[in-house]
Amino acid sequence: MKNFYITSAIPYSNGKPHLGHIYEYVLTDSIARYNRLIGRNTLFCMGMDENAQKNTKKAEELGKTTQELVDWAASEFLSMNKRTNISNDLFIRTTSLAHKEASIEIWNRLVATGNIYKKTYTGKYCVGCESFKTEKDLTEKGECLDHMTVPEVISEENYFFKLSAFKEKLQKILEEDEIKIYPEHRKNELLAFLDQEIQDISFSRPSKLLKQWGIPVPGDESQVIYVWCDALINYITGLGFPNENDIFKNYWENGETVHVIGKDITRFHLLYWPAMLLGAGLPLPKKVLAHGFITVSGKKMSKTIGNVLDPAEVLNIYETFGKETSLLGESFAPEVFRYYFLKNVSPFEDGDFTWERLKELYNADLANGIGNLVNRIMKLSTKYLSIEEKYEQEVFPANYVNSFENFDAKTAFEEVFKLITEADLYMQKEEPFKVIKVDEAKGKEMLEILRKKVYTIGNLLDPFMPETSKLIKSLVLENKMPDKPLFPRYE
Ligand code: MSP
Repeated sequence: MKNFYITSAIPYSNGKPHLGHIYEYVLTDSIARYNRLIGRNTLFCMGMDENAQKNTKKAEELGKTTQELVDWAASEFLSMNKRTNISNDLFIRTTSLAHKEASIEIWNRLVATGNIYKKTYTGKYCVGCESFKTEKDLTEKGECLDHMTVPEVISEENYFFKLSAFKEKLQKILEEDEIKIYPEHRKNELLAFLDQEIQDISFSRPSKLLKQWGIPVPGDESQVIYVWCDALINYITGLGFPNENDIFKNYWENGETVHVIGKDITRFHLLYWPAMLLGAGLPLPKKVLAHGFITVSGKKMSKTIGNVLDPAEVLNIYETFGKETSLLGESFAPEVFRYYFLKNVSPFEDGDFTWERLKELYNADLANGIGNLVNRIMKLSTKYLSIEEKYEQEVFPANYVNSFENFDAKTAFEEVFKLITEADLYMQKEEPFKVIKVDEAKGKEMLEILRKKVYTIGNLLDPFMPETSKLIKSLVLENKMPDKPLFPRYE
């Protein structure tokens, strides 16, 4: 099996994590955990995009230094990761020395291969997107489609990257799935973009604009490396680049490399980044999963509308409810949170969060579904069966594997629920609790089938709800009846 390297996008450091960020991490985490579960060597990398103009602007508004702001943001993201049980192996801050070295190396390679040049440029810059906009990216009123603000007109002397020189190569890479995009339809958007005339892109910003923040262009202190060019490189900083050591070789060059990003940043990951890697003589990533957006009660989350939902709010409410009443204790709220987004949101579409839906689904799937099944079966098991030392997961269900191999965590999760339904039906139809009273051997055999199924369910839950998974497996192996419900009914 090839080594598996998976990354999430690195967020700007201008605020606390919101639901959209945490969704991306939970999704990436489930894929990373699945890969570990089936025995692949896996590395999961994430980090913070600290050099952006957005961050310096925000710090100024708050009367803080940019360093104070990015340190605070990193600690907020790290503590939310801990709370939601994200199993990342690496965390790259773009202000770190290691990252600076990697960025400078890429810059120098692009200069050496003639892919960077200097010119004066006038363009419309959207700080929200941290990118220049063409007329096609704007509304009739001249506003950015994503931020609904009019970009600033900027005239600067900048270094440019020869994106235009890579047009045909990029077309071929996308058409031939050399980098495979999930879901497939996003490929068409990018190919349509490539059909137009491709402009070279600005690859630096004046240092004075960023108040000396950011990574200086080698040999020209008046400029800093453009935020995207610098941020994208975090994916290889994580593997030790510019040292092309064994980790870099085993994971980046010869491994299965996957970037998980939101649908708004495909252009950067599937055009700019591959062109930079080609220009620097480095291998391309193999796959990109571009997930949809999380909306709240049907509306896009936005600071202007004021409906940005803090994941802590969801966690706090479920923590208050379940910390004492559930056998999962402290782990209860994160498990419910992960369940909601992984079982009910398709990675390929936008997904909505509402409080009512969370409660409804919690009661149906967790309280009645998993919780009830474990309870009923362990009750019979402790009464009639003895301890079974070990269960092995010989084969993983084909649909579970196929779905995960295509990053469809939701469908993989549904496969686990099919097993739950099967076990419930078996119980109802075969009634082992009655059989055991007339034919003990047969009844025990039936209960053993069910107990083994519960273990399998526990094991397959690992990528989604790792603590529930551990708990179910240990209840089965120790043949113990839970002394509290896993998922008490939420009225
Ligand atoms: N800093 C850049 C990414 C650089 S990657 C080399 C950035 N930051 S971001 O903070 O705006 O977004 C971080 C990630 O969160 C992106 O993948 C983005 O698509 C995702 N999301 C932001 N809002 C989201 C939702 N409402 N829903 C789901 N994901 C969303 O872009």
